[in-house]
Amino acid sequence: MSNLSLDCKNLSVSEQEINSERVSLCHDQLEQGTGAGADYLGWLHLPSRFSVSTATEIETTARSIRDRCEAFIVVGIGGSYLGTRAGISFLNSSFSNQGQGGPEIYFAGQNISSDYHADLFDLISGRDVCLNVISKSGTTTEPAIAFRLLKEMVEKKYGADGARDRIVVTTDASRGALKSLADDLGYKTFVIPDDVGGRYSVLTPVGLFPMAVAGIDIQELMEGARQGEKLYSTGSLEQNDAYRYAAIRQLLYQKGKTTEILATFQPAFHYLAQWWKQLAGESEGKQLKGIFPASVEFTSDLHSMGQWIQEGSRNIFETFLILESSRRQLKIPTFQNDADGLNYLAGETLDTVNEKAWLGTASAHKEGGVPNMTLKIKDRSPASLGQLIYFFERAVAMTGYLNGVNPFDQPGVEFYKKNMFKLLGKPGL
Ligand code: PA5
Repeated sequence: MSNLSLDCKNLSVSEQEINSERVSLCHDQLEQGTGAGADYLGWLHLPSRFSVSTATEIETTARSIRDRCEAFIVVGIGGSYLGTRAGISFLNSSFSNQGQGGPEIYFAGQNISSDYHADLFDLISGRDVCLNVISKSGTTTEPAIAFRLLKEMVEKKYGADGARDRIVVTTDASRGALKSLADDLGYKTFVIPDDVGGRYSVLTPVGLFPMAVAGIDIQELMEGARQGEKLYSTGSLEQNDAYRYAAIRQLLYQKGKTTEILATFQPAFHYLAQWWKQLAGESEGKQLKGIFPASVEFTSDLHSMGQWIQEGSRNIFETFLILESSRRQLKIPTFQNDADGLNYLAGETLDTVNEKAWLGTASAHKEGGVPNMTLKIKDRSPASLGQLIYFFERAVAMTGYLNGVNPFDQPGVEFYKKNMFKLLGKPGL
């Protein structure tokens, strides 16, 4: 049973135009490991290979953190950050960063802002703190700086021995400065598999451990992802919605629709959209090619970006990510004098109004020359999230292959680093 469904009726292209032979070829490359970046295909089978012993190790460590810390700081950037943040904000309360009865969850090292980190220090001072520093390379500057600051803080507070019990490292099995430091200081360590790249790593301890600390049922999440692996590993375009979505994106791109806007109607999807942007952007944008991934949050952004989308440059298409059913239903009350003229909606749920806003927007944008499709997700459960993560990973890998690029490298990211290091006078450059 699928928790996702793809609706393509608002497109300007016919699915008959899809080059299904090319999809089939790219599918074989993915499955047989004969395409570009084949050393990084470990994510394909993470769900089906997820073992009870891995689940137990992650859950046991998470429980010990939940039992004794009030603030849990996740240190990482890019693929070592966004998936975790997406999962926690998708599944937990809209207003609290409290992990379902466990510690409050904070993020550091995803920027180099002095004020951000100083404010974080103020916020957590006086609370019992634990850290999870995540970096596959173990050398990324942003999290390395944040970790230095936080490590110094916990060592001052708990002493070197006490700090050791409060720091968990997630990194490569053998390489990188973080791995050496973890070995030297005896930190608990989780391994990121060699064949899984940063932005495809949310279903490894990179995402699973902090999500478990946040009280998320990671076994249910992986069960949903396993369902995704089953559904989206078939080469048949008719049966594989992840490939249909990928092939339609590619078709629209070839027809000049060079920007895709992921449009959501739920604040809980905010970081999911950020994760999707990184997954698609870093995977597809290279060799002067690739769809530019953008995102908007409706209905809020209908009052800011709505005008542009309706009547601006016509190089865009939209993918609506729609939640089928909220966890709780609020109904609009009746006002006796109907002073605000809203009584025609009295008794309706907010979900009903939100749904009409989506349907109205989809048809308005189609009329305005913005082809769109809709991906519906059944609910805000770990299982649905797991399936959605796998769906997007498959789809982005397929789009990359369809467009003739390696979706598993990111050579362009190095450019800013080189310049920054030169300006900072890094030794050895
Ligand atoms: O997808 C990627 O590979 C990147 O976004 C990385 O995740 C990001 O640069 C962080 O790298 P690292 O985990 O090595 O610190």
